[in-house]
Amino acid sequence: MRNKPHSVVVGGTRGHGRAWVRALCAKGHKVSVLGRRAPSDTDRGLPGVRFFRADLSKPTGLQSLLTKIAKHGPLDTLAFFQRLRGAGDSWDAELAVTLTATNRFIEFFKRRFAKDGARAIVAVGSAGAAFVAAEQPAGYHVAKAGLKQLVRYHAVALAPLGLRVNLVSPGAMIKEESAAFWASQKKLTELYGKVIPRGRMGTSKDVAGAVDFLCGPHAAFVTGQDLVVDGGLSLLWQESLARQVSPLAGRRVTRK
Ligand SMILES: NC(=O)c1ccc[n+]([C@@H]2O[C@H](COP(=O)([O-])OP(=O)(O)OC[C@H]3O[C@@H](n4cnc5c(N)ncnc54)[C@H](OP(=O)(O)O)[C@@H]3O)[C@@H](O)[C@H]2O)c1
Repeated sequence: MRNKPHSVVVGGTRGHGRAWVRALCAKGHKVSVLGRRAPSDTDRGLPGVRFFRADLSKPTGLQSLLTKIAKHGPLDTLAFFQRLRGAGDSWDAELAVTLTATNRFIEFFKRRFAKDGARAIVAVGSAGAAFVAAEQPAGYHVAKAGLKQLVRYHAVALAPLGLRVNLVSPGAMIKEESAAFWASQKKLTELYGKVIPRGRMGTSKDVAGAVDFLCGPHAAFVTGQDLVVDGGLSLLWQESLARQVSPLAGRRVTRK
């Protein structure tokens, strides 16, 4: 009988990463989860989940951590959900956590995937790779733009090894940790519902669903792609959006 597949989720202790960890558990995977702080008690009790503590903004000790994770068996999938949190623009830390750490993990594990596994790598990007989000610092934008190209580079470089590497780019999403906040912001969520073509905000499950698709057999010929998960919001031209939310909405607005 085939051993349980082993998947690694970097940044899987909270938010969207946690939703992906739960989905993997439900499929019977062994999951190695990495974060700075331990997962909640509920998640620590999930069957097959092992937690590894590390601060990816500091490279010290990363090699021995990677070796420890590898001891749990060749990988089925590898996914990156980590993002730096904190005040101010910590340029170096954004690049270390998003780019350097992702590259180190990929380089270390590229020859440590199970031969008969999914052999899929997925990183989570952001609309901040292509647009400017006023609430995010410069380092976030540059790191996410770099992540997209890192994914494209490895998609080509690792194709001969039978590995696929893709990106999922979410818009603003509701996650378990932010559900109470969004519930208390009825006007804002209604506005999102109005401007997002799909008519609602996305959730962590939508992100995990996209990662699942990219790791699965239906995406066997898909590599180096950026799957945008935003309910169609980024398809709208900004000027149309401005008119849609303007008090003049409903009236014909013409340019003079
Ligand atoms: N939430 C959204 O609406 C949204 C929108 C667009 C894109 N995204 C992208 O989606 C991904 C997940 O976002 P999220 O909102 O779910 O994030 P989150 O809730 O902040 O979770 C981030 C994860 O990364 C880990 N992490 C953060 N800094 C780390 C470090 N220095 N070393 C090791 N682990 C670290 C966290 O663990 P600790 O808490 O223990 O540090 C946590 O597990 C990110 O790449 C984000 O940019 C999110």
